[in-house]
Amino acid sequence: MKKANNYWIPLALSCSLGMVAGTAVADVDKLIKSCADCHEKDGNSKNGETPSIAGMSSGFFLDSIKGYKSNTRPALKLKDKKEDMKDVAKKLSDTDIKALADYFGKQKFKPLKQEFDPALAKLGKQVHKQYCDKCHSEGGTSSEDDAGILAGQPLGYLRYSMDNYANGKRDMGEKMSAKFKAMQEKVGNDGITQLLHYYASQQ
Ligand code: HEC
Ligand code: HEC
Repeated sequence: MKKANNYWIPLALSCSLGMVAGTAVADVDKLIKSCADCHEKDGNSKNGETPSIAGMSSGFFLDSIKGYKSNTRPALKLKDKKEDMKDVAKKLSDTDIKALADYFGKQKFKPLKQEFDPALAKLGKQVHKQYCDKCHSEGGTSSEDDAGILAGQPLGYLRYSMDNYANGKRDMGEKMSAKFKAMQEKVGNDGITQLLHYYASQQ
């Protein structure tokens, strides 16, 4: 008995330590690959409905995943995919989320090349300045406000987000809500279209 113990304890210990270290590293790579299916490896999504997640602040990234996990943020089911962001988020541990926020946050955000209406974009620039730039600074290009990057995101995704806010399906917090409502009252729903084309125009 005594002999067996001496032999097995160190062996079991070194095995389990080795396995823990091995899986931790391999898992992050595997996770990044699973995100790349929709967001691309560098986080700059190419299909028009999926937002780019490159260069996002970790505060915004963590809040987004938390929102999907806790069912407070709606998720879009892409036509040709089995899972949506709620399914994806459910499988992530806190360690996974931090590692992914770190990896995608370090990638460079590349605005999407897409079509837009220049006249609408021009009007949208003024609307943005008046109602949105306070928290989505530098024309919606900065990630430092922890409010995501709006400029250069795909038009389809931006429209989906704005519809969710306008219909109350996604909570925008009191402060953004006040500005959003003021914008709707003064400019009407045309304001939303103008804003969308302004963000899409920044390439
Ligand atoms: C099946 C496709 C798919 C996969 C796989 C996927 N995503 Fe997403 N993701 C989306 C779509 C579509 C949206 C935007 C619509 C929504 O809110 O559901 C989104 C939104 C997000 C957002 C919010 C971005 C923003 O601007 O608000 C984050 C953060 C995110 N995904 C991270 C990830 C991470 C990390 C992974 C891998 C673990 C991942 N996603 C895997 C499709 C996917
Ligand atoms: C008082 C600050 C504030 C103001 C003003 C504001 N926002 Fe926001 N916005 C935020 C924050 C914070 C978030 C992130 C919230 C979240 O994760 O749900 C956000 C998120 C968003 C998103 C979703 C980004 C994404 O990828 O998920 C859109 C779109 C958006 N805002 C548009 C606007 C528009 C358009 C205006 C002007 C009419 C505006 N916001 C004004 C603070 C603000």
